[in-house]
Amino acid sequence: MSLKDERREYRYGKLDRAGLHESPFAQFDIWMQQAQTAGLSDVTAMVLATVDAAGQPRQRTVLLKEISQHGLTFFTNLESTKAREMATNARVSVLFPWLALDRQVSVMGSVTSVPVADAQAYFSSRPRDSQLAAWTSAQSQPIASRAVLDAEFEATSARFSGQEIPMPEFWGGFYITPIAWEFWQGGENRLHDRFRYSQGTKDTWIIERLSP
Ligand SMILES: Cc1cc2nc3c(=O)[nH]c(=O)nc-3n(C[C@H](O)[C@H](O)[C@H](O)COP(=O)(O)O)c2cc1C
Repeated sequence: MSLKDERREYRYGKLDRAGLHESPFAQFDIWMQQAQTAGLSDVTAMVLATVDAAGQPRQRTVLLKEISQHGLTFFTNLESTKAREMATNARVSVLFPWLALDRQVSVMGSVTSVPVADAQAYFSSRPRDSQLAAWTSAQSQPIASRAVLDAEFEATSARFSGQEIPMPEFWGGFYITPIAWEFWQGGENRLHDRFRYSQGTKDTWIIERLSP
């Protein structure tokens, strides 16, 4: 089948203003729980867009690890391409593609660093192999071969044998503090429902329906 013929109807349901929570955080929690209950895989996967100094956007998937009053938390290598880009331009966007429910949620905001102690607490809760992988990978840098990576993993494993693995200095977390959210529900005949939350005064949010 050609790409042009790839289409389907969206029939899950309608989204209306009365059914929306006043807080985008609460609305996100409801949709996250529904995605989990529906058995969607990788519900915490979010596509993170950053922009480099020349204005070139770049995207990749990261995992949402917490949502709190600080915002949306994820962890990564602090010397990676994304971390370098966020150091130059803290503005980011993330997108949750919950396509099996005909939904997407996008969030715009800017990042700040998670305190080192909190990142350490999360790092120490990770499986040992993930901790070793964090040490092993010079994320985003060219590497000669898979064998080099595997050898580095083995060497790191031997180095920390019998010990707790500390968090590398080049690893940590970011909070995304949202300034706007969009909740999208696919509708029949391409008449989708879209609602944007943008920040009002203090803790209030302005909610607007957008044309599909
Ligand atoms: C499902 C999935 C989850 C991922 N989760 C993370 C993550 O939480 N943190 C991370 O640094 N990379 C994660 N990655 C890898 C990133 O997408 C990316 O390849 C890596 O962070 C390097 O990105 P960069 O070179 O743009 O910095 C994940 C990839 C996938 C497909």
